[in-house]
Amino acid sequence: MRYAFGDTDLAARRLELLAEVFSESTRPFLLESPVKNPGLCVDLGCGPGCTTHLLAEILQPKRTIGLDNSESFLSHAGKTATETVSFRLHDVTQVPFPVTPCDAIYCRFLLTHIRDPEVALEIWGSQLRPGGFLLLEETEWIHTSHPLFTLYIEMVNAMLASQGNILFIGPVIDGLSQIGPLRKHSSTVRRLPVPTALTAKLFRMNMQTWKHHPFIRETWPPESIRDLEIGLKQTAESGASVTEIEWGLRQMVFEKEG
Ligand SMILES: C[S@@+](CC[C@H](N)C(=O)[O-])C[C@H]1O[C@@H](n2cnc3c(N)ncnc32)[C@H](O)[C@@H]1O
Repeated sequence: MRYAFGDTDLAARRLELLAEVFSESTRPFLLESPVKNPGLCVDLGCGPGCTTHLLAEILQPKRTIGLDNSESFLSHAGKTATETVSFRLHDVTQVPFPVTPCDAIYCRFLLTHIRDPEVALEIWGSQLRPGGFLLLEETEWIHTSHPLFTLYIEMVNAMLASQGNILFIGPVIDGLSQIGPLRKHSSTVRRLPVPTALTAKLFRMNMQTWKHHPFIRETWPPESIRDLEIGLKQTAESGASVTEIEWGLRQMVFEKEG
């Protein structure tokens, strides 16, 4: 399945900005994780590689490998490779991964884009060594009082649902306590308020791709799409220092039984 938010250069820049914003919630999650002195860490759906470098910095594995099925994102990621951080083209719904067994597997904002998340989790477990950990970060909820953000979220939520995906997939994964040999180790929601102008910038960048999606074109009149885009642009450029949106991030750890 094609990634709904595209893999253009603009999409890569959006993921870089998104990584800056969400590193605030990912950093403490990784610092508090039970992963200690790993040999091999794999970052699934690594995009331009920001999450892969964050994993490498915080968990200090001997080797960190980012996997993604977008050649375009990997060409960005590849430019940042180091002796211990590298990237491979791979559809992560397929196993084996190019490198195994993994001491830790991590992914953020990926299960939302996968058709059968439970099947994916089960096969990922097969790529871990016994005692290894699977770390997941997905959206639990987004709270906002801003009318443009409310409309944006409504559109994205409906578009993803139209292709069998779930935007708010946090509660779904939280409901899983055991997946094959993977046992739930911890599951919490971390709150992350994001400034209004920055959110509008991120949303506007993303909209450049999804506004062309056939479902969006068939469901909303062109004026609504145009007004949303103009409103996001004005909000992004306003430099307003208010915060009217907050994410709840489901952060889960599974351990592979030995
Ligand atoms: C929302 S982005 C998240 C990027 C990064 N994990 C982060 O949080 O900044 C989702 C990423 O998953 C990748 N992706 C989606 N489906 C995939 C698949 N089946 N195999 C590998 N990568 C996939 C996309 O290309 C994209 O880079």
